[in-house]
Amino acid sequence: LHKDGKAALDHIYTEPDPRAYFSTLRGLEYQIPQLAKPHFGQLIAELRRTRNPVTILDIGCSYGINAALLRCDLSMAELYDRYDNPDASVQTRQSLVERDRELVADRDRLPGTVFLGLDASTAALSYATSAGFIDEAVPADLEHDPATPAQLGQLARADLVISTGCIGYVTERTIGQVACASGDRPPWMAHVVLRMYPFDPVARCLARFGYETRRVDGLLRQRRFAAPEEQAQVVDRLTDIGIDPAGRESDGWLYAELFISRPCSG
Ligand SMILES: C[S@@+](CC[C@H](N)C(=O)[O-])C[C@H]1O[C@@H](n2cnc3c(N)ncnc32)[C@H](O)[C@@H]1O
Repeated sequence: LHKDGKAALDHIYTEPDPRAYFSTLRGLEYQIPQLAKPHFGQLIAELRRTRNPVTILDIGCSYGINAALLRCDLSMAELYDRYDNPDASVQTRQSLVERDRELVADRDRLPGTVFLGLDASTAALSYATSAGFIDEAVPADLEHDPATPAQLGQLARADLVISTGCIGYVTERTIGQVACASGDRPPWMAHVVLRMYPFDPVARCLARFGYETRRVDGLLRQRRFAAPEEQAQVVDRLTDIGIDPAGRESDGWLYAELFISRPCSG
């Protein structure tokens, strides 16, 4: 377990390919990218009415999961089947990459959309770009390092910033640097955040850059708890910060909320 009570799954984000990610997370019924997809899709559609191309920055993109779902109109169930099966288990990284490149070539449902992926895991980013899920990688850990001029140039191109399962690992330190990179045309943002990580510090930081944040009604199931110890610690933490876990986390699932932040200027 991490200090904050969450199961330490970090090893699955630094493998050369996404097989460990999908086989591990399938067991936990990880589903947040699937539930976030229609919300992200709606924002992309809105932006496509006035901008071409539309550039999307996925923070904590890992192997390009959100980009794969959106760009190729896939489901998490399809991705679990794709990487977690006996045939995939005997492939090499290169043959998986080639298979994915063909998929993207056949199923690019969002032409005119550019995906940038920011992550601290260079292995995951390398897979995401080789496979063609994302167009460009931003290898960065902005929690620990200020963005370089080259990184700021990449971040400045974003029209929409998205994240799933990443706030908590990253905080207002990262989001603030992304928000102010583009100067006079700040990007819209949509972050899906576990209830155990209050979004207030990020929303307050964004407000200083002229953003308004609204919480979308409803809760989204992220995944099952990995162990009773994880559930106990998360339930305690929620109770400590004044959130009632009854009927939700107490029943065995981690829950997340969606926050949409837009610059007041439009
Ligand atoms: C729980 S995973 C979520 C991955 C993906 N978005 C999803 O929903 O499946 C968190 C991701 O954040 C990345 N990460 C952790 N700390 C980070 C940091 N300080 N800066 C950038 N990325 C980080 C990890 O490498 C990992 O890919």
